Order: sequence, then C-alpha cells, then structure tokens
Amino acid sequence: MSEALVLIERRGRVGLLTLNRPKALNALNDALMDELGAALLAFEADPDVGAMVITGSEKAFAAGADIGAMKDWSYADVYGSDFITRNWETLRRIRKPVIAAVAGYALGGGCELAMMCDILVAGDNARFGQPEIKLGIIPGAGGTQRLPRAVGKAKAMDLVLTGRLMDAAEAERSGLVSRVVSADKVLDEAIELATVIASMSLPSVMMAKEAVNRAYESPLSEGLLFERRQFHALFATEDQKEGMEAFMTKRTPQFKHR
Ligand code: HXC
Repeated sequence: MSEALVLIERRGRVGLLTLNRPKALNALNDALMDELGAALLAFEADPDVGAMVITGSEKAFAAGADIGAMKDWSYADVYGSDFITRNWETLRRIRKPVIAAVAGYALGGGCELAMMCDILVAGDNARFGQPEIKLGIIPGAGGTQRLPRAVGKAKAMDLVLTGRLMDAAEAERSGLVSRVVSADKVLDEAIELATVIASMSLPSVMMAKEAVNRAYESPLSEGLLFERRQFHALFATEDQKEGMEAFMTKRTPQFKHR
C-alpha cells in the first residue's frame, strides 16, 4: 500500500494533520488535497476535537500546487474541472479553528493553504511567497485576495507581481503570521496554541471564528450586528453558565462544549 500523503494524529483535543510528500516539498496534488479534505471533515465531525493543526516538514510546509501535474493542462482541462475547487474549498468550510504550523517554504498554493487557516505560526526559517508570476500564471486559490487583506495592498502587489519570497520576520511585521519561533519548535508552539483554544467552550470558539471572519465579508454595521446576535446566542449555552460561575467561585471552568 502506498504511504499516506497526509498523516493523521490526535494530541488530546487537537487534530494534527501532517502533509507528507517531503521529497516533492509537499507539492499539493489532487490525491494529497483529497486526503487533506477528508481528514479535515473527519476532525470537524469528531466531538472530541476542538482545534486542528496543519503542518509540513522542516524544509517545506508546501511549495505549491504540483507543477508537474499542471504543466500540460489546457484551458479546457482547468476550466472544465473548475480547478481548484476540488477539495481546496473544504478548508474554507471548516468551522473549528485551524492553525498552520509553517516551517520552510510556503509558496504558491502552499502559501494560500496557510492563509486559509485561522492562525499562522511560523518557524524562523519560513519563506512565504506567491511565485506563480514566474510560471506565467497568477495565484488561483485566494492569494490575490487573502494576501492584501493580511498584509495590505502595497506588499501584496510587491509579492504577487515579482514572485519574491518573504522571510518569517517580514511576515510577522506585516501581519501575515501571529508568532515566530525557532523552526524546531514551530509544531510544539502550534499544538500548545491549539490546545489552549480546544480547552475553551467549543460553541464560543466556533462563533468567535465565524464572527472574526465576518469582518472580511461584510460592512461594519452588519458585522457588529452579527457579533451581537452570536454574543446573545451564547447565553443559551451551559458553558456560559459554567464559565461565569467558575469565575465567581474562583475555580477552573469545566466546559462541556454545549
Ligand atoms: C512540483 C515541486 C514543487 C512544486 C518543488 N518540487 N516544488 N514539484 N511542484 N510546486 C520538487 C522539485 O521538482 C524537486 O523534485 C523537489 O521538489 C525538491 O525541490 P528543489 O527545487 O530541488 O529544491 P530547492 O532547490 O531547495 O528549491 C526549493 C524551492 C523550489 C525554492 C521551493 O523547489 C521551487 O521554486 N519550487 C516551486 C515553487 C513554486 O513555483 N510554487 C508555485 C507553484 S504554482 P526532484 O524530483 O527534482 O527532486 C501554484 C499555483 C497554485 O502553487 C494555484 C492554486 C492551487
């Protein structure tokens, strides 16, 4: 049997997914994306998982979509199959938090995959970029849309139009990543962060993610209304009673995730 392209593990309430095509720097082909999509949906459905981490190897998170697979495709092929809809959109539909633990290269589709995650933790050897322009194409999985929202128009244009790579320090300065740690610590850091998030009440975590994402999709007045309604809704949960009762009696809350 061929080796899995995505390794699936559980660390407490954290679901860990490791991209596993190290020789090709985790180039993202259909088979890998299908495995990743299926694994994400399985963790999404598992009540004992509160957050997920996606990682790669120490050399590459993912160096992009598989150029070897794409090189002979015609317009009819990519339009007809609606490349990249297949399983690339799965991550966008995941409602639990997903953290990208990025060491090494996160390029092209790899950078886009990382940007679809909710939080990026980077190793100090991380290199981000959208080098598609050097291949005669442009980003196709959200790079031209998510990068400007993360780092602003000027830097996004700089990266997308030249294809140059950005190191971890620049990525942190420009707001793409939330933390930078040494490359050998990036997975531990991401798992620790995911563990903290997974210890919170799952309904409030999911609503918080949904509300923050609304900030990118709606005018301020609509976003504020959405937040207010979610805020109100959380008063229907057992965990709101437990969280506030625990605070008042100076103990740690025991959330039941409902
Ligand atoms: C297929 C890839 C690959 C990719 C690396 N490899 N990236 N195979 N698709 N995207 C393969 C190489 O061919 C090589 O295979 C092996 O991985 C190691 O790579 P090297 O190039 O030998 O390593 P190195 O010299 O260290 O250079 C690392 C690198 C370079 C700078 C990351 O590999 C590189 O520039 N890769 C392409 C990055 C890129 O253009 N990404 C965007 C792709 S387009 P062999 O068999 O020779 O050992 C894209 C579009 C997205 O992502 C559209 C929406 C999904």
